[in-house]
Amino acid sequence: MNININTDANLAPIGIFDSGVGGLTVAREIMRQLPNESVVYFGDTARVPYGSKSEGTIIRYSKQIARFLLTKHVKAIVIACNTASAFALESLQREFDVPIIGVIKPGAKTAVAETVTKRIGVIGTEGTIHSQIYTKVIHEYDPETVVIGKPCPLFCPLVEEGWLHDTVTDEVARRYLSEFDDKNIDTLILGCTHYPLLRSTIKKIMGDNVYLVNPAYETALRLRELLSANNLTSPSESIADSKQHRFYVSDTPEKFKAFGNSIDLPFYIEKVEQINIEAF
Ligand code: DGL
Repeated sequence: MNININTDANLAPIGIFDSGVGGLTVAREIMRQLPNESVVYFGDTARVPYGSKSEGTIIRYSKQIARFLLTKHVKAIVIACNTASAFALESLQREFDVPIIGVIKPGAKTAVAETVTKRIGVIGTEGTIHSQIYTKVIHEYDPETVVIGKPCPLFCPLVEEGWLHDTVTDEVARRYLSEFDDKNIDTLILGCTHYPLLRSTIKKIMGDNVYLVNPAYETALRLRELLSANNLTSPSESIADSKQHRFYVSDTPEKFKAFGNSIDLPFYIEKVEQINIEAF
């Protein structure tokens, strides 16, 4: 088979964005699964949280970020934020000429594949849960599955604060997750990119009989397929190193850098640059 590789396009980075640090859980999975790809990550740390903002605002923010990422010549964009995936994926796909994926479909697909009881719980921001996006997408795969959503708005600030293992976080999690006490779910989607960082706390409360879905894993698989379908895969000899990954934020870089370097990324983050996202 003769595969035509346009090296410039193939060597271009993947654009990934989130409202803050949470999307690093998706970047981490992409770096692990696609070690030949380099990444340009943007965290909108000045305007986090997205979870309580309106659809119009999230679309406006997401378009600005896509414009910024395109100035870095990204070959594809991953919306590593459930709220932005829920509200802005279709608008971005209509407006911009690069392949764009979100995290909702990959997470929904994994959950449908895993559930036996056909009763799935979803936790996320108020925006994601009230949009009912997970219910809609899960019903496209299996209309008989029952989906029970629960917003957990305090989880994001706890994660941003770095309180991943803390009695306060345990107590907050117990209160939120008691929603599922009598619902007989066997699968729970961590429908916010910050939540995989609370995985051990959530696991302790939900127990071993509930399968926790981290949409990041499936998103990385889906990205691999997307790059291949568009002939955009990076050549196998180009192993990305830490200098090729670039990180940008809209607020001060120090906290982001410290956080990023505490969550077991495959690379040390050496440099984070602050940009004025409102200019895009
Ligand atoms: N990262 C966002 C998400 O996945 C949550 C944080 C926020 O509210 O901005 O929905």
